[in-house]
Amino acid sequence: MSPTSAPTAAYTADLVVFGGTGDLSMRKLLPALYHSDVEGRLSPETRIIAMSRGGLTDEDFRGKVDAEVRDQVPADPSAWQRFLGRLHHVSVDVGGENRSGWSALTALLGGHEQRDRVFYLASPPMTFGPFCRELDKAGLVTPRSRVVLEKPLGRDLASAQRINEEVGAIFDEAQIFRIDHYLGKETVQNLLVLRFANAFLEPIWNSLWIDHVQITAAETVGTPGRRGYYDHAGALRDMVQNHLLQLLCMTAMEPPARNDREAIRDEKVKVLQALRPITGTEVDRFTVRGQYTEADGMPGYLDEPGSTAPTEASRRVETFTAIRAEVKNWRWAGVPFYLRTGKRLPRRTSEIVVQFKDVPHSIFPGGSPNRLVLRLQPEEGIELHIMAKEPGAGEVALKPVPLSLSFGKTFTTRVPEAYERLLTDVLAGNPTLFMRRDEVAAAWQWIDPILASWESSAELPEPYPAGSTGPAGAHELLARSGRVWHEEDQA
Ligand code: BG6
Repeated sequence: MSPTSAPTAAYTADLVVFGGTGDLSMRKLLPALYHSDVEGRLSPETRIIAMSRGGLTDEDFRGKVDAEVRDQVPADPSAWQRFLGRLHHVSVDVGGENRSGWSALTALLGGHEQRDRVFYLASPPMTFGPFCRELDKAGLVTPRSRVVLEKPLGRDLASAQRINEEVGAIFDEAQIFRIDHYLGKETVQNLLVLRFANAFLEPIWNSLWIDHVQITAAETVGTPGRRGYYDHAGALRDMVQNHLLQLLCMTAMEPPARNDREAIRDEKVKVLQALRPITGTEVDRFTVRGQYTEADGMPGYLDEPGSTAPTEASRRVETFTAIRAEVKNWRWAGVPFYLRTGKRLPRRTSEIVVQFKDVPHSIFPGGSPNRLVLRLQPEEGIELHIMAKEPGAGEVALKPVPLSLSFGKTFTTRVPEAYERLLTDVLAGNPTLFMRRDEVAAAWQWIDPILASWESSAELPEPYPAGSTGPAGAHELLARSGRVWHEEDQA
C-alpha cells in the first residue's frame, strides 16, 4: 500500500495547478491540501500556485478560496490563515501572445530548483501537450519535477497515445502521474488488503467458486451545466474506461510478488490485456446504453439547465451503460464481470459485488449463495452475506445475514478523501495508485470497438426515466443467464 497511510514526512514542494481556480481545484484539491497541511504533511516552505486566465492577484485568489473553500473544511482559524499564506496565483494566456504569465511563474519558481515541483494539469486534455511544451520552453522542468494528468486522457486510443507522446516528450514516464481518483478511495485499497493480507479468500477467488461479479457506480446527480463536456464523453468514456475498469483490475488481478509500484501495475495491465474484446454483433448482445428522460420533476438529459442547446451528439450520448465483460485467463474463464454506471439513478452507490456459486447439494429449502459486497460509497465497508438459521422451533428456515465491517464505525480516525491520499502520493513520488501508460492504452483498446459500434449504429440510447433504475436492457443483460442485479435481489 502507499506509504501515505502512515505519514512520517512533511513534503517541501512547489505545487503548480493549471486550472487552479476551476471546479476540481476548489472542490477537491484545495480542501485535500488543507487537510494535508493540518496533518503536518506540508512543510512551511511548500507553496500552492494556481494558474488560470482569471487575472487574479494573490490576494484576490486567497479571498476567493476563503469564500468558497473555507466552509468545506473544519477550518481552525490559525491553520486556515497559514494555509491561505501558501497560496499564489499566476495569470497565464495559453497559446496567446502575452508571455508575462510564464515569466511570472519563472520568477516565482526561480531559486527553488532543488525543490520538488509538481505541475498538476486540472485542465482539458487538449491543453496537456501545450502546457508541457510551455513549461519546457520556460526551462521550468527540472529532474525533480512531476506532472499530474487529470482524466479524461483522450477520447479513444489514438488521442490518448497522442497525449502520452506529447507529455512523454517532456517528462519521463516515472515523472508522469495519471490520476484515477477511484484508486484513492479507501475501499479500493482495502480490497487489496482483504485479498492479499487474509488467507481465506484466495483459494476461492476463482471461477470454481465465483459465479459472477457486479461492479456498479450509480449516481443520483444528472449533468446540469456539463453538456459541453458530457456530449463528447458519455458514461463509457467518463466512468468505464477509467474508474470501473480499475475496480475490475483490482478485483481480478493476480497476487503481485511485492507491494510496489511496478509489481501492482504489471498485474493490472495483464487483466486489461486479458479482457475478451467485444466487437461486431456482440456489442448489441453484451452492452446496453441508456439516456435519462424527464420524470418526477427531474429534467431529462436533453433539458438539463445551464447548458447549451442540445445537438445530435446530445441525443446520441449515453448517460447509462451496462456491459458484460469477461477476463480470459485461467482464474476467471467463464465468469462474467457486469459493469454498470449511470446518472440520475435512484441511489448513489458504488460497489463491487462478488457472487459465489451455490452449495453443490442443498439439504435445506430456501438458501441462497454467499455474496461479498465491497461498498465504496456511501458508508465505505465490506459485507459478507452468509446463510443463517432463523431462530424458531419447527422447520429450519434460512436467511441471508451480513457479517459487516463498517469503516466509519470500526475506525475512529478520519477517512481521507481520495484526492488527499493521491496528492500525498504525488508529493511522496509514489506512483503505485496512478495509471501507467500501457494501462491507459490497454483500457482504450478494449473500449474503442464498443465506441465505434455505438457511433456507427442508427439506434439511439434506450430512454429511462430520471430516478429509475436504468433502461430495461440492463435487467435483460443479466436475466438472459438467470441472474439479477444485487439490489433487485435484496428487495
Ligand atoms: C468523475 C466523473 O470522474 O467521477 C463524474 O467525471 C462523476 O461524471 C464522478 O460524477 C464520480 O466520482 P465519485 O467519487 O463521486 O463517485
